[in-house]
Amino acid sequence: MLRNTGIGILTFLIASSISSAGTSNSLMDIAPAGKSLVVCNNDNGTITLVDLVKKVAVREIKVGKKPEGVTWIGDGPRVAVTLYHESKIVIVNTATGKIEKSIPTPAEPYGIVTDAKGMHAWVSHEYPGVVSEIDLQAGNVVREIPAGSMPRGIAIAPDGKRVYVSEFYTGILHAIDLASGKTVDSWKGHSTDNLARQVLLHPSRPKAYLPHIRSMVKVNDGSGSIFPQVSICDLKPGKERRRTSFGMDTFNGIYVVTNPWEAAISPNGKRFYVIYAGTNDMNYCDVIDDDYKEIERVGNAVRIGQNPRAVRVSPDSKNVYIYHAMYFSVSIYNANMGFVKAIKTCEPTKTPEWVRGKILFNTANPPMSSRRWIACSSCHPDGGHDARVWQQAEGLRKTTAFVGMAHTHPLHWSADRDEVQDFEYTLRSRLMQSFGGLLKTKIKQKIGFHKVELEEKTSGRSKDLDALAIYSNSLDFPLSPHIVAPGKLTPAAERGKTLFFAKEVGCASCHSGPYYTDSSLKTPFKLHDVGTGRNDKSERMGTKYDTPTLLGVYRTAPFLHDGSALTLREVLTTQNKGDKHGKTSHLQKDQVDDLLQFLKSLPYETPPEVTGNTVEYRVQPTKKE
Ligand code: HEC
Ligand code: HEC
Repeated sequence: MLRNTGIGILTFLIASSISSAGTSNSLMDIAPAGKSLVVCNNDNGTITLVDLVKKVAVREIKVGKKPEGVTWIGDGPRVAVTLYHESKIVIVNTATGKIEKSIPTPAEPYGIVTDAKGMHAWVSHEYPGVVSEIDLQAGNVVREIPAGSMPRGIAIAPDGKRVYVSEFYTGILHAIDLASGKTVDSWKGHSTDNLARQVLLHPSRPKAYLPHIRSMVKVNDGSGSIFPQVSICDLKPGKERRRTSFGMDTFNGIYVVTNPWEAAISPNGKRFYVIYAGTNDMNYCDVIDDDYKEIERVGNAVRIGQNPRAVRVSPDSKNVYIYHAMYFSVSIYNANMGFVKAIKTCEPTKTPEWVRGKILFNTANPPMSSRRWIACSSCHPDGGHDARVWQQAEGLRKTTAFVGMAHTHPLHWSADRDEVQDFEYTLRSRLMQSFGGLLKTKIKQKIGFHKVELEEKTSGRSKDLDALAIYSNSLDFPLSPHIVAPGKLTPAAERGKTLFFAKEVGCASCHSGPYYTDSSLKTPFKLHDVGTGRNDKSERMGTKYDTPTLLGVYRTAPFLHDGSALTLREVLTTQNKGDKHGKTSHLQKDQVDDLLQFLKSLPYETPPEVTGNTVEYRVQPTKKE
């Protein structure tokens, strides 16, 4: 098919000279006048105001736990920031550095967009699966609109009539009509589409763009498991070609890029930029107005700094700003990606070892992988999970999130590892193909499914490997949104708690202690056959499993080692036919409901920083608080 050259581009250029802030979710936003920028330092709990004229950081402002999205309100100087771990948004006056309003919202506020006048904001809430509409003047939530499963990306249409959201774990795009508050259209992608944390719209063409990956769960190979994609959806109703996906690896010839995290379109509609958080690259492309080719690469992918997490273009389309999360800075480039200046936005948080560990965890570059296709974070985004069940050689394995991991060793469903440094074996495996890993020296050879990792001490032998462990064992997690207040359960959850701890039900005999697991590094490890092994025909490690923690299970479906329970209810009912996994068959339906309410309420209080099973390699807690 031939590329349509001039006319189409010209018409949309004329239509799109107005720009407003906050039309798609990002960690960074530029004020409409183009003179200032604000960026979320998400590990530090701060935002930084940058003066784009003087090209300096003006001030860093403390906002709260895990700011994940920011938008200017109207022309400024106020911005609205989502606090993902605090279930609220704050309105900050960037001129004074003061928080002017704190607005309680549903849980996990992630992306935020506003209308051009700054009257309303719309926020995606990941776990509850809603979009909230916020009256910025009154300072309250006026509506909660259902928005699919685990939405993260959010964008507002140029006419302000719709918002579009992307589901993080499926990449499905939904259009929500703001007048009716209803989902009026959806664009489904490939079943492997994953980690679609952003959506953005073209300023004049009816198109939505989603950077994401594909997780090929049947392939365990450094060059076949994870693919970088950009999906483009036609927003016009009833169009035949509704959703096209571009493999950004083939797009770049033989040059591999990993973990597309965010994209931007220049306000004049001509250029499309996409950053790769895993390989520290960036593509800049021409937007082609032909419904077919869509984007055309200009030059080769550009090497940029460590762990790019946000990209924005100035209102005059002349400058590109990139937030390098692990350089703790914003870099300014010209429109053709010539480097102008880097501006520091904050000090690194936590320890230098944690910083090094986070860099390694997020990168697909050597020394982590020789092939550059895959990073730890491709399956464990920010230490979370990918909602996938991988077919590994040892059997089906649901990816686990690292909630409380410093206290819940041994590791893996089959407890075949006793220290995070044992992931040296993963680095040397076909999955990561790191050649020699981080340890470089000889380690005991893995033969078959023998748990050789338990015999090989891998900690204390490589600074990088220890750093990887320190990062992995130091993730923050919030209290459950299902509680009344810290330490206080709903009446139903309170009844469920009684059942959980009752002898006749027996959950607490294995899910014991403050982390709700009997996992312990004391040998022999306690493994249990709870009747779940029969579900996995490919199992090669035996049907006894390590008791998983229950903290955070409200948001980590599917469940069990093989993901065979799609819901928590299935864990207790259809997947527990023989009462081998606690005794549940005698429970009435409302008792099961109560038990589920309790499970969903975990954690309802902050678990202790130290237990008898806490590992050494982590960021040690500070004394205060
Ligand atoms: C292809 C997806 C994928 C990649 C890439 C990946 N993991 Fe995992 N990870 C998984 C799965 C699946 C499990 C569960 C496996 C099991 O328990 O046997 C897991 C489990 C873990 C666990 C155990 C958690 C617990 O509490 O038991 C740790 C630690 C971990 N991974 C660290 C890493 C590190 C470090 C890297 C990078 C070197 C990495 N993973 C790369 C999919 C992945
Ligand atoms: C004999 C020990 C034992 C008892 C008793 C027990 N569990 Fe478990 N639990 C396990 C093990 C082991 C697994 C992992 C099984 C698997 O993955 O196939 C598990 C898995 C789970 C999971 C899934 C967690 C996830 O992340 O996928 C939930 C939820 C759960 N148990 C809740 C309960 C409840 C509620 C009870 C009481 C009715 C209970 N368990 C009783 C050992 C136990």
